[in-house]
Amino acid sequence: MRIFLDTADIAELKAWNATGLVDGVTTNPSLIAKSGRNFLEAIGEICALVEGPVSAEVTATDAAGMIAEGRRLVEIADNVVVKAPLTVEGLKATYELAQDGIAVNVTLCFSAVQALLAAKAGAAYISPFVGRLDDGGQDGMGLIREIREIYDNYGFDTEILAASLRTPAHVRDAARIGADCATLPPSVFAALYKHPLTDAGLAAFLKDWAATGQTIL
Ligand code: E4P
Repeated sequence: MRIFLDTADIAELKAWNATGLVDGVTTNPSLIAKSGRNFLEAIGEICALVEGPVSAEVTATDAAGMIAEGRRLVEIADNVVVKAPLTVEGLKATYELAQDGIAVNVTLCFSAVQALLAAKAGAAYISPFVGRLDDGGQDGMGLIREIREIYDNYGFDTEILAASLRTPAHVRDAARIGADCATLPPSVFAALYKHPLTDAGLAAFLKDWAATGQTIL
């Protein structure tokens, strides 16, 4: 499963990109607003840092506007993926952009039938929002399972990009189900490394090692 960071914070991105484990980046208008950055400049900077796909979201609400914005966004860099909302207009824009070979990440997906439509429109990625469904008392991971089943039934090559993930358990479950990618806030990515037994085990090993008085170098 490819791991994307869901952030427009360049400093945070630089730090985690150094791990070699960041396969791409997703942004949304809220994350851009939080960063305080100019949208087009920030996307350019992120694309220069990360080799993989970088999702940049359109803000028009009509298909013609989304298509125009999408075409502008892909001029920024080869690895820009246009992010469009799962609305009738968003899927019309997805269809047109996909016809031109432009990769589209269809976002704000909350049902399996929405995901079916996005795949039929030619989306490169579908972003089901797991955490927001859980917040509303629904089964977010169940949606990932349903989409996996439907896409496999019909051989769609739209990639499932599990989004709105809030915990390492979400990441584990998305990987078990077979999501193609997962996008995580940096805090969740950091949490993936952590286990109290790792910390306790290392502390014990280092204490015993120190008692030997030896060094390796
Ligand atoms: C994905 O593309 C979205 O930017 C993101 O995962 C939304 O997450 P949130 O529900 O935590 O805002």
